Amino acid sequence: MEPILRLENVSKAFGGLKVTDGVSFSVMPAEISAIIGPNGAGKTTLFNQITGALRPDSGRIVFQGQDITGLDTQEIVALGMGRAFQITSIFPEETVLNNVRVACLSREGLTRQPLKGVGSFKSSTEKAMSVLESLGLAGQAARPAFELAHGDQKLLDIGVALALNPKMLLLDEPTAGMSPDERALTRELVVKLWREFNLTMIFIEHDMDTVFGIAQKVRVLQQGRLLAEGTPDEIRANPQVVTAYLGEEL
Ligand SMILES: Nc1ncnc2c1ncn2[C@@H]1O[C@H](COP(=O)(O)OP(=O)(O)OP(=O)(O)O)[C@@H](O)[C@H]1O
Ligand SMILES: [Mg+2]
Repeated sequence: MEPILRLENVSKAFGGLKVTDGVSFSVMPAEISAIIGPNGAGKTTLFNQITGALRPDSGRIVFQGQDITGLDTQEIVALGMGRAFQITSIFPEETVLNNVRVACLSREGLTRQPLKGVGSFKSSTEKAMSVLESLGLAGQAARPAFELAHGDQKLLDIGVALALNPKMLLLDEPTAGMSPDERALTRELVVKLWREFNLTMIFIEHDMDTVFGIAQKVRVLQQGRLLAEGTPDEIRANPQVVTAYLGEEL
């Protein structure tokens, strides 16, 4: 089987600081994996390059067999890459439903389906409601997004990404700022979404219960470099990883 995503020597520097430094790895279809590493290791910057928000200085990113290096975010999203953010990107004054519906409508624009007036409005509403149901947010569809609890706002951000029908979904710290109970629920939900939407998923996470609870594969970044990659058991047993990172986290 071919990898769905391949990074080859992806590098990016800000000023003199190499934030991602020759990162190479391959992700297989339907894999759920984690990227871990200390603050400032370059995790978010790596996501920014995969999604086209930042252009690598050098290296190549191949998604579903296509070189996407240097494409802009819109093009990459249209190819099936979804992303939820470390800091949520929802419209706070809009309703929960509208936040997802706008994404559904933009998906129709991206795939260049002719606009179908009321039909399009209706289908986008139905699609948005089904996404909200998957997330357990349907009951809050009519509320302005800013009224949602922090954890639900993070879920809504995932909903916006799901509305675009991604094949691959990148989540930047899905459980950040959550209580242990919320984290456990989010963990279950992430696995449920992974299955239900047939996704390949990569999530960045500092919460080790989440990482070791649900990832099939773990990649460790340190100072912009890929320090290690393996199954959760391999990573836990890797002395370099324990010294560099896990010692303090576990
Ligand atoms: N646009 C930018 N300009 C300059 N420096 C940046 C920029 N974006 C990120 N950096 C720097 O790059 C380094 C890596 O940042 P990044 O946000 O990728 O880390 P991270 O691994 O996601 O950290 P965290 O776990 O805290 O979210 C940091 O030192 C950061 O200050
Ligand atoms: Mg980050």
